Amino acid sequence: METRHDFGSKIGAVLASAGSAVGLGNVWRFPTEVGNNGGAAFIFIYLLCIAFIGIPVMMSEFLIGRHTHTNTISAFAKLAPGKWWRIEGIAGVFVAFLILSYYIVISGWTLFYLIESVGGKLQADRDYSDVFNNFVSNPWMPVLAGVAFMAFTHFIIARGVQSGIEKSSKLMMPLLLFIIGILVVCSFGMPGSSKGLSFLLKPDFSKLTADVILSAVGQAFFSLSLAMGCLCTYASYFRADTNLPKTAVGVSVIDTVVAILSGFIIFPAVFSVDGVSVDAGPGLVFITLPSVFNIAFHHVPIIGYIFSAFFYLLLLLAALTSAISLHESVTAYVLEAFSLSRKRAAAAVSIACMTLGIVCSLSFGLLGDLKLFDMNIFELFDFTASKIILPIGGIIICLFTGWYLDRKLVESELTNQGKLRFKLFRIYYFIIRYVAPLAIAAVFLQEILS
Ligand code: TRP
Repeated sequence: METRHDFGSKIGAVLASAGSAVGLGNVWRFPTEVGNNGGAAFIFIYLLCIAFIGIPVMMSEFLIGRHTHTNTISAFAKLAPGKWWRIEGIAGVFVAFLILSYYIVISGWTLFYLIESVGGKLQADRDYSDVFNNFVSNPWMPVLAGVAFMAFTHFIIARGVQSGIEKSSKLMMPLLLFIIGILVVCSFGMPGSSKGLSFLLKPDFSKLTADVILSAVGQAFFSLSLAMGCLCTYASYFRADTNLPKTAVGVSVIDTVVAILSGFIIFPAVFSVDGVSVDAGPGLVFITLPSVFNIAFHHVPIIGYIFSAFFYLLLLLAALTSAISLHESVTAYVLEAFSLSRKRAAAAVSIACMTLGIVCSLSFGLLGDLKLFDMNIFELFDFTASKIILPIGGIIICLFTGWYLDRKLVESELTNQGKLRFKLFRIYYFIIRYVAPLAIAAVFLQEILS
C-alpha cells in the first residue's frame, strides 16, 4: 500500500474542503431554493442554519477524520470496534458513490453549455427550453459530456492528495472567486437589476413557513457537504496542527459567501427580463439563464458573451472540486481496504461510477420510461441520497460525537490536545447532543411525510 499523505499546508486544507463544499449546490441549488422560498427571509434562516447546525456538524466530521487518519469506513470501525456505528461509514461511502454518479450528469451538461456558449451558440435567438430538452434526451451527447467530465475528475484523483487534490484546489478556488467577482459586476450592469436586489435583500417574514425553514436546513447540509464522510475523508489528511474549529468556520464562510454571491449574479439578471419567473426550478440555470444571456447579448454583445461563458465556467469549476471530494471518499476506501495503488483504485471507482452515470444520463431519454415510485433513475438516486441517507447520516454523526464518543476525546481533538483554546466548546457540545439531531430529524420527517 502507498504511504498516506497529508495536505501540505493549512491553506491547502481549507481550500480543498471549501472546494468540496462549493459546488452545484451553491450556484444552482441555492438560488433555486431562494426563488422557491421567497427570497431574503429564506436567506436569513439559511444563515442561522449554517451557524448553529452546519458548523458544529462539520467540526464533528473533521474531528472523526483527523483523529483516525483513515477512510470513512475504517474511521467509524476504529472508533467503535464491532459496533453498529460503522454502518454510518459504509452508508457514507455508498452515498458518495451514488451522488457522484448523478453529479457527473449535471456536470456534463455544464461542460456542454460552456462549450456552446464559448462557441457563441448561447447568444442566439432560440427556444432554450427546446434546446435543453433536445440535448438531455439525446442518447450520445450528454453521455459523452459526462465521460469527459469524469476523465478530468479521475486525472486529479489519480495524481494524489498533494499534487492532485490540494494543488488543483489552490488553483481552482481563487479562480472561481475571481470569476464570481466579474459575474456580479455583469449582473448589476443589466438594466432593471434593482428588482432582483430587493428580492434578495428585503425580507418578507410573512413568507416564512415551517416548510421554508426545513428547506433551509436541508440546503445547508447539502451545500456544506455534510453527513457523507466527504469532509471526514479530507480531514484525515489534515495535519496535527490544523485548527479544526477555525477551519470549519473558514470553509462555511467561503461556502456561504459563494452561495449568496451566486444569488447576486442570478437574480438581478433574471429580474431584468420581464416574464421570466424566478421559481423556474432546476431549469433556472439551463433554460432561464440562457434566455437572459441572449437578451444581455442584444443589449451589449460583449457583456452577454462574457456573462454566459464565465457563468458556465464557474459552474464547471464548482462542480469539479466537489466531484473530486466525492470521488476521493470512495477511492480512499477502495485504496486502503483492498491495498491497491492509487491509480488502480481511482480507475476502479471512475469506471464503476461512470457506468452508473451513463444509466442516470439515459434516464432523460432512452430509459425515460423506466420508473420507480414515479421517479426516473436520476431522480430516484437524488431522492435516496439527499432526502433519505443524508439526513439519517447527519443524525448519526451528531449522536456518535455527542453521545458515543468520550467527551474528553472530542474536546482534546478540537483543541489539538489542549494546545488551542476553544471557548465555545460547551455550546458546541450542547448543539451536537440536542439541537442539531432534533433539527435534522424534523427536516427528515417533514420530507418523508410530504
Ligand atoms: N456540497 C456540494 C455542493 O454544494 C455537493 C457535495 C459534495 C456533497 N460532497 C458532498 C453533498 C457530500 C453532500 C455530501 O454541490
